[in-house]
Amino acid sequence: MPKSPDFNDRSLSLDLARVSEAAAIACTPLIGRGDEKAADQAAVDAMRTQLNRLDIAGVVVIGEGERDEAPMLFIGEEVGTGNGPGVDIALDPLEGTTLTAKDMPNALAVIAMGPRGSMLHAPDVYMDKLAIGPGFRTGVVTLDMSPAERVSALAAAKGCSTNDITVCVLERPRHEDMIAELRSTGAAIRLITDGDVAGVMHTAEPSKTGIDMYMGSGGAPEGVLAAAALKCMGGQIFGRLMFRNEDEKGRAKKAGITNFDRVYTRDDMVTGDVIFAATGVTDGSLVPGIKREVGFVTAETILMRSKTGSVRRMIYRNPVG
Ligand code: FBP
Repeated sequence: MPKSPDFNDRSLSLDLARVSEAAAIACTPLIGRGDEKAADQAAVDAMRTQLNRLDIAGVVVIGEGERDEAPMLFIGEEVGTGNGPGVDIALDPLEGTTLTAKDMPNALAVIAMGPRGSMLHAPDVYMDKLAIGPGFRTGVVTLDMSPAERVSALAAAKGCSTNDITVCVLERPRHEDMIAELRSTGAAIRLITDGDVAGVMHTAEPSKTGIDMYMGSGGAPEGVLAAAALKCMGGQIFGRLMFRNEDEKGRAKKAGITNFDRVYTRDDMVTGDVIFAATGVTDGSLVPGIKREVGFVTAETILMRSKTGSVRRMIYRNPVG
């Protein structure tokens, strides 16, 4: 049997940007139109069509859901022409469906690709997450610390007061106690209504975004996507799966997970070289959203490779009919 060609992250990266661009652009007529499902479907269709043009033997590892609940881009779906390297793909064609429907900031079309077997098969359950940007020793903050201890430890490492730390948190009732504890330290909290992939990515560019740390629970699949982003941008992320019932444990077992208490580091979630592309759907602090003018649509993509640490920002302007 001929050997599968190597994962050429350099040449595939530009292809990947086309995939997230297509998904974001497909959402254009649905931004601010109050229809989350239609926006998500448009992004899924466009992403799948573009992905299937690539010369890869891809498998969706993080996708739209399990085969019986998602007709397209489900976990385990084979994508690409089949003529190319075996790759794992993590994707979220529209990260922030509600943000898009309400035209609120930081909705993204997101995709990551790595060699086959390089990504955690995270089940669709919650994950307790903690992330900081680059430049700190490993483990300066940990999931085992309390929220207040994390703020103190990060402030000490930065050589600043706890009042100078800003933490990003998803605004959810389940986070009320954590938010109260964070407030008691004097830290600022940037509450977001959705979109924790972007939330985590914000920690990698604190001077631009003003965010030093991300914490709280959100989707485990989004945790793997965020780990892929930080593997390229630098920074640490830790995640522990959370189970609300036996059904969720069953999903994890099906995904091959046996240790339910494990804390996954960034490099446990994404073990090999990865490429990552995110195109802005709505305006955000990391990337601007889709812009429309008569006859044209413009999309901006952040495209990154972990092997080189390179970060490209690509602006794509295309005529529309
Ligand atoms: P969707 O794009 O699927 O709507 O997900 C958005 C999101 O905010 C994620 O970024 C986050 O991980 C998850 O939902 C949080 O889940 P929940 O809304 O149940 O708290």
